[in-house]
Amino acid sequence: MTLAPPPRLIVFDLYGTLLDLASVLASSAAALGGDGPSLLAEWRARQLAHTWLRTLMGRYAPFDQVTAESLDAVLSGRPYADEALRARLLDAFRAPAPYPEAAALLADLATTGIPCAILSNGTPDMIASALGAGGLHERFRWVLSVDAVRQYKPAPAAYRLVGERTGVAPGEALFVSANWWDAAGASAFGFPTAWVNRDGAAADPLGAPSAHAVTSLDGLRPLLGLPARSAS
Ligand code: LAC
Repeated sequence: MTLAPPPRLIVFDLYGTLLDLASVLASSAAALGGDGPSLLAEWRARQLAHTWLRTLMGRYAPFDQVTAESLDAVLSGRPYADEALRARLLDAFRAPAPYPEAAALLADLATTGIPCAILSNGTPDMIASALGAGGLHERFRWVLSVDAVRQYKPAPAAYRLVGERTGVAPGEALFVSANWWDAAGASAFGFPTAWVNRDGAAADPLGAPSAHAVTSLDGLRPLLGLPARSAS
């Protein structure tokens, strides 16, 4: 069902939504052996916990520092961990690969005239590095980092940046995130939300439910009146 009226703005989360964090493991596969997926899951969980806890504590630190500190926490005690692996993983986190359907969706969206924005926990430098490497930078009229307010999502101050910088009220935009807690936070703030539920996770009752649930970025196409992506 196509959204009517169409959103005046589409706001994308970045890590895990447009960018596939599993790609961060590729350059370290040999060193990690079979532990890669567990390490990544623990790293990501610890990274997000640090963002929430730092915001609650009033102890903001930029996302590159949070990313490194959370990696150090989960590497400690892993016998294969060394400085070279740490450096490679952090370097890879600067440019995770976009999901395969991301570029085509953003290109098709450009033809609709609906502007797109990023709202990410990443620092401006991290976001620019990732979007540049993925060739996606030109698709966004606004690239917003929570670094401007020194509070991480789901703090309302982070979501407030969107209206302040774009002039579009949350209720007139569509917020897209694959991070369930981010979708919940954006819904609670007042955005209609599309939750990209790639893994078929059960819905979580936290906050306001997402208006739409899709299983990949391609699932946004019918909502936005875009044709299905042709197989490539
Ligand atoms: C981001 C987080 C949620 O991109 O990963 O903001």
